[in-house]
Amino acid sequence: MSKQILILPGDGIGPEIVAEAVKVLKLANDKFELDFELSFDDLGGAAIDRYGVPLADETLDRARAADAVLLGAVGGPKWDGIDPAIRPERGLLKIRSQLGLFGNLRPAILYPQLASASSLKPEVVAGLDILIVRELTGGIYFGQPRESKRLENGERMAYDTLPYSEREIRRIAKVGFDMARVRGSKLCSVDKANVLASSQLWRAVVEEVGKDYPDVELSHMYVDNAAMQLVRAPKQFDVIVTDNMFGDILSDEASMLTGSIGMLPSASLDSDNKGMYEPCHGSAPDIAGQGIANPLATILSVSMMLRYSFAQVAAADAIERAVSDVLDQGLRTGDIWSEGQTRVGTTQMGDAVVEALAKL
Ligand code: NAD
Ligand code: IPM
Ligand code: MN
Repeated sequence: MSKQILILPGDGIGPEIVAEAVKVLKLANDKFELDFELSFDDLGGAAIDRYGVPLADETLDRARAADAVLLGAVGGPKWDGIDPAIRPERGLLKIRSQLGLFGNLRPAILYPQLASASSLKPEVVAGLDILIVRELTGGIYFGQPRESKRLENGERMAYDTLPYSEREIRRIAKVGFDMARVRGSKLCSVDKANVLASSQLWRAVVEEVGKDYPDVELSHMYVDNAAMQLVRAPKQFDVIVTDNMFGDILSDEASMLTGSIGMLPSASLDSDNKGMYEPCHGSAPDIAGQGIANPLATILSVSMMLRYSFAQVAAADAIERAVSDVLDQGLRTGDIWSEGQTRVGTTQMGDAVVEALAKL
C-alpha cells in the first residue's frame, strides 16, 4: 500500500523551500520506487487565513492518518498582533503535542565544503558532527499554569511553568542514549540543575537511565557552560540531550557552526518513529518572497524522513550525497556564500540537487 505524506508549507519562506524539497522527494519516490502519495494542507498563518485557526481539526486528522509529515515553517509579522492563543506558532506546538512527537533530532553536521562559511575558524569546526536531542512536547512550552494578568495595583505580570515528569525525562533520555550508542558513544545531558528543580530531577533520571547503557559515556553540563563550549570547542560533543527550551536555543547556536541555520534539518518522532520533518529555522520574514532562502535544511529533512520513518537508507544517503555534490559544484545561496563561489537562488539550488540526485 502506498505511504501517505502530508505536506504543510506554512508561511514566509516555508512554501519556497518546501517546493524545492517536494521536487527532491518526488524524484526520490520515482528513482527508489517508494510508492509515496503526497497531499497538501495549511498550518500556521496560512491556516489562520484559511480556517481561522493555526491548526484545523481536519488538518490534524490528516496528519494523524499520514505516515509522515513534511513542514516548512510558520509565523510572520502579519499574525504577530493576533490573540496569542491562536498565533501561528500555537498550531506548530499543537501538532507536535497531539502527535506525541517528543523526540526532536537536530543534527549539526559541517559539510567540509562549507568550512569557510562557518563563523568559527575552520579548524574549530572541521569534521563537526553533533546531534542535539531536544525534548519537544513538555517543559516550559506546555507547562501549566501560565498566565498574563494585572495585579491589584494595576501592574502587569505574567508567568510560565517548567514541569517535567520522570516519564517524560526517561523517554527522551533513552532516545539520547540510543542515538549515542549508534554514533560516538558519548552523551552530554544539558540542564540547569544548579538552580531549577525540574533540572535536578532531569539529571537524576538521566543518571538512572544511564545504568542501562554502560557502553555510553555520560556527562552533565549546565546550559550556560554548554552554550559557551559549543563555540569554544564544539567537537567535544557527540550527542546532547536537553529540554525543550534549552534545545531550541542551543540548536540555533549549533547551526552557525555548520555555516547557516539554512543547513539544519530536523526530525520530530513519537515512540514508533512516526515523524514530522522540518528545517530548524523559521519563516524568515526578512527574506520571504525574494527567492533567496536556502532550501537545503528542508531537503535534508526529507532525507531524515526517508531514514527514520521509512528505513529507506539508500534513498536518504543519495539525497545527502546530492547535496554534497551541489556544494562541490560551488553553488551557494546567500547565507552560505563566500568569495569565489556561485551565488544561486532557492529554485536553482533545488534544481541542482534534483539534477545531482538524478545522476546518482
Ligand atoms: P528565522 O529562523 O525565521 O530567521 C532568523 C534569521 O535566519 C533571519 O535573518 C533569516 O533570514 C535567516 N534564515 C532563516 N532560514 C533561512 C534560510 N533557509 N535561508 C537563509 N536564511 C535563513 O527566525 P526569526 O526571525 O526569529 O523568526 C521568524 C518567524 O518564524 C517568527 O514568526 C517565528 O516564530 C517563526 N519560527 C518558526 C519556526 C518553525 O516553524 N519551526 C522556527 C523558528 C521561528
Ligand atoms: C523551532 C521554533 C519553534 C520552537 C517555535 C516557532 C514555536 O523556534 O522549531 O525551533 O520554539 O520550537
Ligand atoms: Mn527554534
